[in-house]
Amino acid sequence: MRILGIETSCDETAVALVDNEDGKVRVVSSLVSSQVDIHVKYGGVVPEVAARSHVDVLFPLLEQLGVPRDGKGIDAIAVTAGPGLVPALRVGVEAAKTLAWAWKKPLVAVNHLEGHLYSVWLRGGAEMDPAFPCLALLVSGGHTELILMTGHGQYELLGATRDDAAGEAFDKVAKLLGLPYPGGPAISKLAKEGDPSTIAFPRPMLESGDLDFSFSGLKTAVAVYLEQHPDASVADVSASFQEAVVDTLVTKTVAAVMKHHPASVSLVGGVAANASLRARLGDAVASARPDATYHVPDLAFTGDNAAMIAAAGSFRALAKDFTDPLTLAADPNMRLAKRV
Ligand code: KG4
Ligand code: ZN
Repeated sequence: MRILGIETSCDETAVALVDNEDGKVRVVSSLVSSQVDIHVKYGGVVPEVAARSHVDVLFPLLEQLGVPRDGKGIDAIAVTAGPGLVPALRVGVEAAKTLAWAWKKPLVAVNHLEGHLYSVWLRGGAEMDPAFPCLALLVSGGHTELILMTGHGQYELLGATRDDAAGEAFDKVAKLLGLPYPGGPAISKLAKEGDPSTIAFPRPMLESGDLDFSFSGLKTAVAVYLEQHPDASVADVSASFQEAVVDTLVTKTVAAVMKHHPASVSLVGGVAANASLRARLGDAVASARPDATYHVPDLAFTGDNAAMIAAAGSFRALAKDFTDPLTLAADPNMRLAKRV
């Protein structure tokens, strides 16, 4: 089955063609057009500007992907319906509805977070897919969640951030340090030159006894430290801050592993590009539960992309879980899972 994926929930316009043969996913082609250069001067994403850029870019990108004008060879269309920025989501949703109507193909509405969860199925070849139950640490610019996938399309929310997301903390601390948006790549690069033991930033919520996170206090701690130490080394602050975030994420994920005994553990979302987090979580899972396999997406699929949306949509399509184009609307607060 061949699926066209469309993703416009935030500041990347993305399209992809993905094959799913009996549950084995293969990326045929995937294109991402980033708007970072447009938003960098605002220090963050402006929804209306993002939407206008999606309108300009989406159809040329579909042409570049080689999608035939009559939709020949495509079995279904998957689109991100939420969560995200409403004006931005609408561009993808309306385009997908139009194509589904014109081509007479079924439509699948995909939750953006579900897309990130499926980024570890985009492996191809002989590599192993995650087995269920799969515990996912989803860390992006908008979300920090521990989700237990008990089967395809079956999710339980085990814990989430109570305030800022991990990626948001990277972005805000980068701003404090005078680094460009998005902050994660800039901080992780500088952190390599710094000493993570220089500053003992707080590890928030480690003693909370649940699987929730909180990152706004950590950001404030960095702000206070910078006020008191205006000449601090940016590399040392970056390394110490990153260490605090990674420690917190790893400790809570291991706690979830010990409680829920997953067969596999995955690390997904934009922050999954962080080399320190990828390595530290892998080591921690291996010693906490040697039987569990550990899965991280290729770097091309950590950030927002449409291949992950098509992958998630393909499993829904295999289960004939289609969406009525007449009732589909962008949903900025679309929920993935009930909290357990
Ligand atoms: O998944 P994503 O592309 O978009 C959302 O759905 O939010 O995640 C973007 C987030 C940004 O906050 C960015 O700073 C962060 O991922 N990020 C990183 C790294 N690369 C991107 N955070 C830490 N280390 C990185 N190497
Ligand atoms: Zn995302």
